[in-house]
Amino acid sequence: MGIGSRIAGVGSFVPPRVYENKDLEEMLDTSHEWIIQRTGIERRHWVDPKTSTSDLALEASLKAIKNAGLEKSDIDMIILATLSPDHDFPGTGCFLQAKLDLPTITVLDIRQQCTGFIYGISVADKFVKSGSHKNILVVGAEVHSKGLDKTPRGRGVSVLFGDGAGAVIVSQTEVNDPLVDSHILTTHLHADGSFAKELWLPAPGMAFEGNERFSQEIIDEGLHYPQMNGKVVFVHAVKRMAECLTAACKEMGVSFADVDCFLFHQANLRINSKVAEVLGLDESKVFNTIQDYGNTTAATIPLGMDKAIEAGKLKKGDLVASAAFGSGFTWASALWRY
Ligand code: ACO
Repeated sequence: MGIGSRIAGVGSFVPPRVYENKDLEEMLDTSHEWIIQRTGIERRHWVDPKTSTSDLALEASLKAIKNAGLEKSDIDMIILATLSPDHDFPGTGCFLQAKLDLPTITVLDIRQQCTGFIYGISVADKFVKSGSHKNILVVGAEVHSKGLDKTPRGRGVSVLFGDGAGAVIVSQTEVNDPLVDSHILTTHLHADGSFAKELWLPAPGMAFEGNERFSQEIIDEGLHYPQMNGKVVFVHAVKRMAECLTAACKEMGVSFADVDCFLFHQANLRINSKVAEVLGLDESKVFNTIQDYGNTTAATIPLGMDKAIEAGKLKKGDLVASAAFGSGFTWASALWRY
């Protein structure tokens, strides 16, 4: 069939400090019962003050490179997805590149939030198929904890998010039998910017009226913290994830029963259960990690891959279906054989 791309190695990393729901009860005026009932989250990992997004990305990347049986020097491109960058610019991919000591290779940052990882592997797949690159490191990494409103005002959002990173190596491969060979079958990418303000970080930003991108007023109003219309996000997430997953399977002539493992973005356990219900999926094939890590945005899918492999739920040769939805709104799906 020709040149394709495959996921050749997977790695993940979460910082050691764990915050159980009960650890947030006083800080956020919340309760374990409220969080578990509405989201399924039991705990999340939050970094210590010295750790940045590229630090988490580095650890996950080194593991993915090792698991792919490669040397660092084999990597010819880095694609990094995050909504919690080390700095506004340059992109966190450049900081990761310096930490990996891989000067001059191509670096690309992706800003598609919860959907960023699938956008990343889609771009990597196309670069690899074009023949220009052979081994692309695709990373999703987030440090949310430093950007959350850790007062009762922010409880509707701050209970949801955790810090972590996941990485894969997308490598060139020869695909002879598409029904058997390990490769990325398809990706579907979408966005609808008319919903941008339903889930966003308003400030700092150049769209603010005035001469400065940051002000005391912004801080007083808490506009430097994420804002979310949870109910709207919920409804659209279920609809769009189901839609793009169906489209990917239809394109490839694959039924849901053919899929061995569903690795969805981890925004909320209830969203994933609803997607499974709407599509009539076998829930035992849906692998969730949100209970232990919360929503790590761009990192949830590669982190889930790593944990699924560790748990023996994702094995070589398995057909995997992924779908994600997030801020933008953006949504995407991917179908790949491990
Ligand atoms: N602890 C206790 N009470 C809370 C908390 C909390 N952490 N947060 C909100 N509440 C209270 C509210 O103040 C409100 O109280 P009131 O009825 O007295 O006014 C009540 O709970 C209900 O608040 P809602 O915001 O309406 O809660 P909702 O039922 O919509 O649940 C949730 C919120 C869980 C976020 C839900 O909307 C949801 O799952 N949305 C999907 C969005 C999502 O998962 N986003 C994740 C990030 S985006 C992504 O990755 C796609």
